[in-house]
Order: sequence, then structure tokens, then C-alpha cells
Amino acid sequence: MQLLRDAGCELIVPLEFGPHGGRELEKRMQGMDAILATLDRFTVDTFKSRDAASLKVVSRWGVGFDSIDVPAATQAGVIVTYTPDLLNETVADFAFALILTLARHVHESHQAMSNGLWQPLWGSNVFNKTLGLIGCGRIGQAVARRARGFHMRLMAYDIHPSAEAASIGVKFVPLEELLASSDFVSLHAAATTDNHDMIGEAQLRQMKPTAFMVNTARGTLVDESALELALREGRLAGAALDTFKTEPLPAGHPLRRAPNVLLTSHHASWTIETGQQVSLCAAQAIVDAQQGRRPRFAVNPAVFDSPALRAVLV
Ligand code: DGY
Repeated sequence: MQLLRDAGCELIVPLEFGPHGGRELEKRMQGMDAILATLDRFTVDTFKSRDAASLKVVSRWGVGFDSIDVPAATQAGVIVTYTPDLLNETVADFAFALILTLARHVHESHQAMSNGLWQPLWGSNVFNKTLGLIGCGRIGQAVARRARGFHMRLMAYDIHPSAEAASIGVKFVPLEELLASSDFVSLHAAATTDNHDMIGEAQLRQMKPTAFMVNTARGTLVDESALELALREGRLAGAALDTFKTEPLPAGHPLRRAPNVLLTSHHASWTIETGQQVSLCAAQAIVDAQQGRRPRFAVNPAVFDSPALRAVLV
């Protein structure tokens, strides 16, 4: 906020926690030159809205930009930026924390202790087991590096298998093989229109009943009803979910009552240190555009050459 203020920006900070979207977001955009967005939903209608007439930049706090209709932004002449790389290690720490917690029932033991009980629980080993990574880009590879320290066998499914991942011992396999062989499946794919519900009823049935699933990527990758049923029927040993189709997860959502589930509030990337870096990077993009420079991490660089471009760049 200081960086933005020092650059002469006036800041309007909504009091309600987002994500914001629809008409409510449009109304907030009146007179705004830039928006620093978390998971707020920017659709074609948002960009077409008269309320967005002065909008020049949407700076996404984070790495996923699935909540933003990027082609619509480009068409409207709005620059969209993100903050790549900064949160890879932080999210990987969290994914690994979830793997360990699930396998050793740390959350359940804490719950029992809080309820006045003393209840040792049998868990599953993590070391020497097989970890399947769905999506093995920068975050998936950061998880793989941690798993190597636990002598895990590493396999991945990715539509773009990378030589870098292979060089740290990741074996790329078809999704069916990964699901059937993994003791832990961790999701790290970017959400696209093509991979909606990629883990559905059929995929869950391919997993071992002793296997655990961790999702720190996006809720859209998983059919939540099918997952809830698989947990209820004991077809999966457990699941840890940090992301959901609807966020915040509604209070009465069936997943909240599912057995062997560990739920967190989409905060895999939230550490003080990383948060500061991500915030600075997201703010810098706005300052750059405001001062006539091309922001470094544009998701839609084509907009720079478009006659529709709203920002005045030098
Ligand atoms: C991301 O970077 O996309 C995380 O989900 C946090 O917003």
C-alpha cells in the first residue's frame, strides 16, 4: 500500500473479504484505474460494464488467473498481470504439510486432545511411498523436491511434461497409471476450461482405497460431490482440500461433514514473507502501468500492441 501511495495512488480498500464478482464488483470499479485482485471474478460483462470504463490494469495477487476472462480483458484493452514464481516454495510447503498431516492424523489427534481425550492413532508412512503429481510445473516440482527427501517414488501427469521435472526423478505417466499407483496424489495443475472436474467419479475409483488426495490448486479440478461420496464409502483414505469450487466454502457444504477430510481456507500461499513479496510485485505492476512502463508479468502481453490499450505507455 505504501508503494502505491508513494506513487500517488489513492487507495480504496473494501472492508468485506472477497472474492468479489458480478454487479457488486462492477459497482466498486467506478472511477478505478487499477484493481489489485485476489480471486475476484472478472468476466466479459465485468470488462464491458460502463462502471469499468476507466479500468486499465487488473493486477492479480497470485499465480492463477482462472478467475479472470483474459481474452475479454485484452479485447477491452485492460492489462492483466500476475505474480509468477514467488509462491512456489510456500505452496509446496503447505501441500507437504497436508500430506504429512493426513497420513499421521495430526488434525484428528489435535481435535481429540481439544475434546479432552487421549487417543493415539495409527497412521500411514510417507517415506518410501509413491507420490503422484497432477500438474508438474513450478509448484509441482517444488513438491517433488521435498518428496525426494522422504525417498518417495515420484510420478506425474502433465500435458506438458518437463525435462526439468524428469531431471529430479519425476516419471511422467498417463493419468490412469498415476491414480492406480499413487499413495498420495497432489494436484498442482492450473485450472482451465479443459480440466474442469478432471478428478471425477471414474478417476476416484481408479485410486487405491489406502490413498490420500491433496488439492492446493483449484477446486474446479475435482468433482466435489464424487469426492465426498468416495470418502463416505471409504474408497479413499482421506483428502486435504485448500481450494473449493465456491469460496468461501458455504457453512453447510457437505464436504465439511465428510469423513477423513482436512479442510483449510485457501491459504497455501499465505506466509508473511511470501505475502510481502507477492504484494510488492502486484503493486509494482500497477505503478509501472501508471508511470507509462510495461508491467513485467503481463498475462496478456498482446494488449500492449492493441489499439484498445487503455493505459498510456511510453
Ligand atoms: C494463487 O496464486 O492463485 C493462489 O491460489 C492464491 O490466490
